[in-house]
Amino acid sequence: MILNLAHRGFSDEYPENTILAFEKAKEAGFDGIELDVQLSRDGELVVIHDEELKRVTGEPGFVWDYTLEELKQMKVLESCACAVQRIPTLREYFEEIYPSEMITNIELKTSWNEYRGIEEKVLALIDEFDVREKIWISSFNHFSALRFKRLSPNIKCGLLEESRMVGMAEYAQGLNMDFLHPVYYTVTERYAQEALMRGLEIHAWTVNEGEEAHRLERMGVQAVIGNRPVVR
Ligand code: G3P
Ligand code: CA
Repeated sequence: MILNLAHRGFSDEYPENTILAFEKAKEAGFDGIELDVQLSRDGELVVIHDEELKRVTGEPGFVWDYTLEELKQMKVLESCACAVQRIPTLREYFEEIYPSEMITNIELKTSWNEYRGIEEKVLALIDEFDVREKIWISSFNHFSALRFKRLSPNIKCGLLEESRMVGMAEYAQGLNMDFLHPVYYTVTERYAQEALMRGLEIHAWTVNEGEEAHRLERMGVQAVIGNRPVVR
């Protein structure tokens, strides 16, 4: 059966990329969690989607402008009547969520800012928590995904795609990738066949409807990433 990962945690009902949203995803029976990582000014791995802090915390500036201590003083703007949530570190995520059978898809948010050394830091934490088997790495910055793959060939990696690009499967295969992570509406029979023929799994986002998940499953897509549970 197709796997269902929680996009930024159970983000339909809880503040995205918070420990609360991750715990609720676990309770809801998702097969895994997708989250976004960046680096604070002092080089700590933090879990937050936007590079700019405004939407998530109401504060000015960018993630890389602040130390972890400063980021921790910010409140994540609430989308539910729940306790105040803070920007988690990736370490806190592993401490709270594992041990677990769930997969974690770590998206390296490295398109706007170089975040030198982020791949090494993520790998070191994965090894510290001994969770290699449970990790998928992805990035829109394909060089960042490749850098991670070169560091650790046996951790599964995928390339994120925001629009349809001919030749992606051949390109990903050439980089020794394991997956393609396309936006769901670009997945066609032909796209799926090409990827599967080249030994690549397909994990599509952001899928919030069961009907769409089943359309993708019929084409051979192995996982959908969405804001709420859709396949059970
Ligand atoms: O991993 C799929 C999805 O998370 C990529 O888009 O912008 O939500 O990080 P975004
Ligand atoms: Ca993401």
